Amino acid sequence: MKPGPFTHCVFDAYGTLFDVHSAVGRHREVLGEKADPVSILWRTKQLEYTWLRSLMRQHVDFWQITSDALEYAFSAHEIINPELQNQLLQAYHQLDCYPEVPETLKWLKDRGFGTAILSNGSPKMLASGVNNSGLQNLIDSVLSVEEVGVFKPDPRVYQLAVEQLKTEAGKILFFSSNAWDVCGSAHFGFQTVWINRFGQKQERLPGQHLLEIQRLDQILGWID
Ligand code: LAC
Repeated sequence: MKPGPFTHCVFDAYGTLFDVHSAVGRHREVLGEKADPVSILWRTKQLEYTWLRSLMRQHVDFWQITSDALEYAFSAHEIINPELQNQLLQAYHQLDCYPEVPETLKWLKDRGFGTAILSNGSPKMLASGVNNSGLQNLIDSVLSVEEVGVFKPDPRVYQLAVEQLKTEAGKILFFSSNAWDVCGSAHFGFQTVWINRFGQKQERLPGQHLLEIQRLDQILGWID
């Protein structure tokens, strides 16, 4: 289904623009066969802690969440290496963006759409991610959940984009690789594209995406 009229393209950050597994990727030799399981468990726990802390109303920022999740992953795999743990956490400030991200953002900006990030990330994490990938001139606004003190998919997070971008929910085209974020944002009222990078199954949750693709640049033909 083609999108209706929209003014802004809004992007989830982690997993959508930035490759969360690139942190562990840089320390693959030290971690050996534990590299992939650690990276996957780190990400899984990171997301679980955002949902659980939101339910518990015990918010801490995404940096603390990321640190706690890494500590859990190291403990689960019986890795005791504080220096490596710190290096991995710091690597989160310098995650690689996916290769097609800059050209896709430029293409959208050239067509007059506003561009923004709406993410669980703390402002500092997002700023360093954007700078590290050279996206400063391609993203107009960086919106962090820290402004509302709760994580996705709480509707207050999606409402933040509506207010900050001074538009209507239905005029936002939102992109996420996280299937549950796609459901949350679509249910809120965004037009939503699922960047299914990891071949996930569709969540059995309210909220329906307009389009499912594997890479961001596949929207180029769809929008034109
Ligand atoms: C984010 C997480 C959900 O960037 O990836 O908000």
